Amino acid sequence: MTRRTVRIAMNGVTGRMGYRQHLVRSVLALREQGGLDLGDGTTLWPEPVLVGRRGLALEEIAAQHGLDHWTTDLDAVLADPAVEIYFDAQVTSARVAAVERAIAAGKHVYCEKPTAPGVADAVRLARLAQQAGVRNGVVQDKLFLPGLRKLKRLVDGGFFGRVLSVRGEFGYWVFEGDWQQAQRPSWNYRAEDGGGITLDMLPHWEYVLHELFGPVTSVQALATTHIPRRWDEAGKPYPATADDAVYGIFELAGGIVAQINSSWAVRVHRDELVEFQVDGTHGSAVAGLRSCRFQHRAATPRPVWNPDQPATERFRDHWQDVPDNGVWDNGFKAQWELFLRHVTLGDPWPWDLLAGARGVHLAALALESSTQARRLPVPELPR
Ligand SMILES: NC(=O)c1ccc[n+]([C@@H]2O[C@H](COP(=O)([O-])OP(=O)(O)OC[C@H]3O[C@@H](n4cnc5c(N)ncnc54)[C@H](O)[C@@H]3O)[C@@H](O)[C@H]2O)c1
Repeated sequence: MTRRTVRIAMNGVTGRMGYRQHLVRSVLALREQGGLDLGDGTTLWPEPVLVGRRGLALEEIAAQHGLDHWTTDLDAVLADPAVEIYFDAQVTSARVAAVERAIAAGKHVYCEKPTAPGVADAVRLARLAQQAGVRNGVVQDKLFLPGLRKLKRLVDGGFFGRVLSVRGEFGYWVFEGDWQQAQRPSWNYRAEDGGGITLDMLPHWEYVLHELFGPVTSVQALATTHIPRRWDEAGKPYPATADDAVYGIFELAGGIVAQINSSWAVRVHRDELVEFQVDGTHGSAVAGLRSCRFQHRAATPRPVWNPDQPATERFRDHWQDVPDNGVWDNGFKAQWELFLRHVTLGDPWPWDLLAGARGVHLAALALESSTQARRLPVPELPR
């Protein structure tokens, strides 16, 4: 077995996503398993170079994980020919400039979603990467969740017959920050800093709907700010200028109707933080992060509307679990493995920056639909 090192500049590793999911659970987890077996007698050994603004924080993370390389000088790391990949999990507002520089330096790029705060920049990054001939990708982790993989298994197996509708419920209560600390960074609640639940979550729903059921052809959304005042990390009050809930209806190619509520101002009365119910002519399913339950048409009860009587059925009892039938690795790591194979072996990879731009496009159209109070078509982004 020969070992090939791939050096990855990782920007934003002091953040929630950059540290936990991408550094620890993906790149370091790959090292813990001895590297990535490419299947051709080569093991790929990812060597992260931690990049960020705060040297002390980077030094601490590097020391904690026995890593040799960190820097606050992005230009220097991009000028280093030994660095092959640039990864970005910075705040959304900082992404475009850094990714653009990485593309110009000839690096392959992989980044968190949304790829940009606006669609023009998102499309521009995709084009720049294409013109530069660098391999590029965007994180689309929800596709790798066990619950959604099981749901996809049902779709691919023809379980639903004709899919009629999808209804998604995402969200949880994010504390305002006064009497209990907020569990999400405050920039998410300031539009001027790239925050807002529409820009955060609609890119996810775009690829989930697209990959499982078909491309979105129209959107009608209502985005709002339910909690107008929050308290930041320092305990200081600030006006929440970004939307914290968005209620959307989407038409998909083929006539499927999807309705997805996303909110940081909802208390959870569900089994999981996100759930999608899919109804089809032959059966239905409800998928969450990990589980997926289904009901075949033959097991469908016959409810009769009668408010004078207590419910006669225990409706949840008529559903069955989709079995795991396998071991599901962390979704972020699973996608990293595919990206590394794409970069080194040229394996197929559908989740490029243009796919990322589609998500930003849908978010932008949803916000526009909300402002204009009307349903808008979602034109395809040209390749
Ligand atoms: N894939 C997912 O499920 C998912 C989930 C949450 C967030 N995200 C995305 O990941 C990115 C990071 O989100 P997060 O929740 O980790 O944020 P975070 O606030 O925890 O981390 C942000 C990172 O960006 C750095 N940064 C660079 N410039 C900055 C600036 N001007 N102000 C503040 N921080 C700056 C910070 O140092 C930190 O390392 C965002 O683009 C977000 O949309 C993705």
